[in-house]
Amino acid sequence: MKQFNYLSFAMMAAGMVVSCTPVQEEESTPVAITINVAERGADVSPSMYGVFFEEINHAGDGGLYAELVQNRSFEECEMPEGYYVENGRLKPAPVPNHETGRVNENANFHWNNEPVRAWSLKPNDESVATMRLTKDKPMFETAPNNLEVNIINAKKPVQLINEGYWGMNIEKGKLYALRIILRTNEDYEGNITAKLISKKGKVIGETGLIIRKTGEWEDELKVIEPTESDNEAQLVLEFDAPGKVWLDYVSLFPPTFYERYNGMREDVARYLAALKPAFFRWPGGCVVEGISLANRFEWKKTLGDPASRPGEYSTWGYRCSYGMGYHEVLQYCEDIKTDMMFVCNVGMGCQYRMGDACTEEEIDIYLDDCMDAIEYALGDVNTEWGLQRAKNGHTDPFPLKYVEIGNENWGTEYDKRFDIFYKAIKEKYPELILIYNDMTGLKNEDRAIEKTDMIDPHWYVTPEFFYNNTTLFDNKVRGKWDVYVGEYACNQGVGGGNMNAALAEAAFISGMERNSDLVKMTSYAPLFENVNNREWSTNLIWIDTDQVMGRSSYHVQKMYSRNRPTYNVGSSTYIIASDSIEEASQETPQKFLATGYDEKKGEVIIKFVNASDKAQTVDFTLEGVTNVLPEGKTITLKANSLEEENSMEEPKKIYPQNELFTEFGKTFAYKFPKYSFTILRVKVEK
Ligand code: AHR
Repeated sequence: MKQFNYLSFAMMAAGMVVSCTPVQEEESTPVAITINVAERGADVSPSMYGVFFEEINHAGDGGLYAELVQNRSFEECEMPEGYYVENGRLKPAPVPNHETGRVNENANFHWNNEPVRAWSLKPNDESVATMRLTKDKPMFETAPNNLEVNIINAKKPVQLINEGYWGMNIEKGKLYALRIILRTNEDYEGNITAKLISKKGKVIGETGLIIRKTGEWEDELKVIEPTESDNEAQLVLEFDAPGKVWLDYVSLFPPTFYERYNGMREDVARYLAALKPAFFRWPGGCVVEGISLANRFEWKKTLGDPASRPGEYSTWGYRCSYGMGYHEVLQYCEDIKTDMMFVCNVGMGCQYRMGDACTEEEIDIYLDDCMDAIEYALGDVNTEWGLQRAKNGHTDPFPLKYVEIGNENWGTEYDKRFDIFYKAIKEKYPELILIYNDMTGLKNEDRAIEKTDMIDPHWYVTPEFFYNNTTLFDNKVRGKWDVYVGEYACNQGVGGGNMNAALAEAAFISGMERNSDLVKMTSYAPLFENVNNREWSTNLIWIDTDQVMGRSSYHVQKMYSRNRPTYNVGSSTYIIASDSIEEASQETPQKFLATGYDEKKGEVIIKFVNASDKAQTVDFTLEGVTNVLPEGKTITLKANSLEEENSMEEPKKIYPQNELFTEFGKTFAYKFPKYSFTILRVKVEK
């Protein structure tokens, strides 16, 4: 058996000696597995692998969204209605839980106590200035805060600095779009200059602003062409004369993905698109409900001029700008050819937090809001919200295909509301697929609802849970609903997300793929973290100012998504027992198999998870084929230990290797390395 390595081949062809000291790898006893390609199993749903986006860990602001200025609108000091700060922590308004009638007195959340988040005045010996937030003469009533800078003495220019999201990535050769909304005193005699300053303090780009001294707001657009690159730059506004200046909005954009106005960060958007997600779920996650209804995510406030958007305190400890709004997300879905899933609020605050619920009479407000969101995506220009979409630059409908009714809701009140929403949405949009929250992990097959298209269970668990539950779906009831596993991840006892987590997920997915007649959709969660703000323990993709990195789990997702068979085919086993019968009866299984057929390419796809510390040779027999081509592709993701993780320093420590294998046949042997996930693509004739 030869595994062909392109690099070795290229080196040999170039006359180089490839010296390798054979390392004796420990091996398990070989096993024999028969795959019957003629035995057709469940079709694998084309919508199987999607993504779940939520504004958590700065996934949007400071993540996928390209804006470089943090707190650009000076709204980050705003609290949800009725909330207050006590001992430096944010306390929610004391609303009662709708089931118990009690107020969760212990609830408290991170609050940033800086006077003006992300902005500072740089003191120097020869200038004096102060700054304060005001709501005087707001440019937009919806985003009323602005920053008053009082320049008292400017023998040397006063510098107002924005630190960005832990720095700004500025690249020479790219153009940066600066937008500033400001007003000055009528007698302000100075200049205002915008500068990009490198981490070493060097000016690497600048532009002067035009001061009209009308006392009215001026909206200026400028382009900055940097002379150098720096991945931790800052934006500085310099004022060189005494007087007062008010800033309503300061925004800086690099070129965006697909050059969209107010768009996505290019590298992050591309990295996500590489997963080829079948759908994009938005806006969450718990932000949908809010800590209480007071800070629920409100899509209508995410439309229109970015400078007018108020943002909202995200459930995850910071205020998000609403810059990456509904329109931008729909546009991104269209650009990467994925269907959108919108998650609506049914008039209930997060049941893990405050658990409030609107009154019976108020339910229609939430239902109408959901119907409007659907109309915004799908309605023609003769509808109110379809017209609004056209006014925002998109006449044709967007690819909205799914609506999840509520997020992580449960109980009698939820079930009642679900029925109301389901009926109303189905009546008007029968083509939409509607989803119910299942907080029991598929344990309850009797639901007090009239009907649903899909149900959404979530699993955040240990590796052992996933290794032990690859058959969880095998005997679940069919025909009542389809299953969308909307949030799952191995996030307990796995560090920042190590190879054990990735392999456990790979094992669990093998069970979902095999049962894709039932499990039609899945999405790992959460999707992103900015490495400077890890709010959730494990997240699929890590982001820095200039880096995007996939954990081993990302590669597992990508390998599954890009090697989705048309249908499953039969195998003599899916869980490979340990060497000794004794161990096998006690141990958590470590080796798993998924077998499918790609009709378009005429290839059998074999996926093998080996989480053990020994290599495993499998003697395969392919039945139900007339011929097997010897050459085929293998993709291997492997690590040196289960604890190994990728990091920003070593982003490709665990990375899929594509190789050519030349010994496929009706019978063939393949050695799967320890701690690995492998895909074999075998060309066959039937
Ligand atoms: O993915 C993180 C959180 O987990 C989501 O916001 C919520 O739906 C779940 O509890």
